[in-house]
Amino acid sequence: MEPRVVGGADMAGMAAAIAAELGEHPVRPSVERFPDGEMHVVVPDGVAGREVALLQALTAPVGEKLVELALLADACRRAGASRLTGVIPYFSYARQDHCTQAGEALGGEVMARLVATSGLGRVIAADLHSEVATAWFGAQVEHVSAMNALTEAVRPSLPRESVVVSPDLGGAKRAERVARLLGLPLAIVHKSRQSGTEVVVHRVLGDVRGRAVIIVDDMISTGGTIEAAVRALRSEQCAPEVTVLATHALLVGNAIERLRSSRVQRLVHTDSVPCPSDLPFDHLVVPLAPLLAGVIRKAR
Ligand code: R5P
Repeated sequence: MEPRVVGGADMAGMAAAIAAELGEHPVRPSVERFPDGEMHVVVPDGVAGREVALLQALTAPVGEKLVELALLADACRRAGASRLTGVIPYFSYARQDHCTQAGEALGGEVMARLVATSGLGRVIAADLHSEVATAWFGAQVEHVSAMNALTEAVRPSLPRESVVVSPDLGGAKRAERVARLLGLPLAIVHKSRQSGTEVVVHRVLGDVRGRAVIIVDDMISTGGTIEAAVRALRSEQCAPEVTVLATHALLVGNAIERLRSSRVQRLVHTDSVPCPSDLPFDHLVVPLAPLLAGVIRKAR
């Protein structure tokens, strides 16, 4: 028997899509609020004696999403679920993967530990910011990547002379994988972060002159990284066509305007987080449900 799929209140669409891939109907929990703001969660019949895949993206407001996940996990357990797997398409805080000053909290590890204390025997997460995060949960972690699916989505419309670009050193392995799949050269932008919204580029490593660029990143948050990378690549005389491939299109603040004014032509991303459908450039959404369902099924 395949696991039952239970999604958080904002995850109904993806829960239904994953359940359909598994040949099941999703279990729709009731998530309500008491007048003082407390959440009240009830999971209906259908999970007793069954494995449960508990779907929750840790998007804003993250604290609320975390509490909801913990309540859903407890409700499933009390309803007799035999095993709980947390399926987390987007795990925020993962960028806080090291401390840079005394007295600083290690945010990523704290969040992972909080997730794990919800009683999840196993966690499936998509494109965590760094591999280091897999060690934080203290549970079995299946770290899945959407990069192959994103690559295949971009392949049919690749300009003839292209180069794959990592917008920072930390993402070089990810971009290298895409470059290898596409049989294209790789370039890397050496950047450093000044603040939550601003980055500076030191140099571009590799030859981008005259080539259309395909920038590969795990996430676009404020768009500062992409904006700075595109500026640096244009000053190295890349071709005008700019495509961005990213798993998590958070697009916070004025990210959309930053991408538009950087003349990004195409954004290819997954549905790991909700994203507006009326972007001022071409965009293609690659659904995560088939990938996540495959891992849920395989890793039992
Ligand atoms: C950084 O290391 C990440 O891989 C992303 O490049 C970054 O978090 C994107 O954030 P933003 O869009 O705010 O520059």
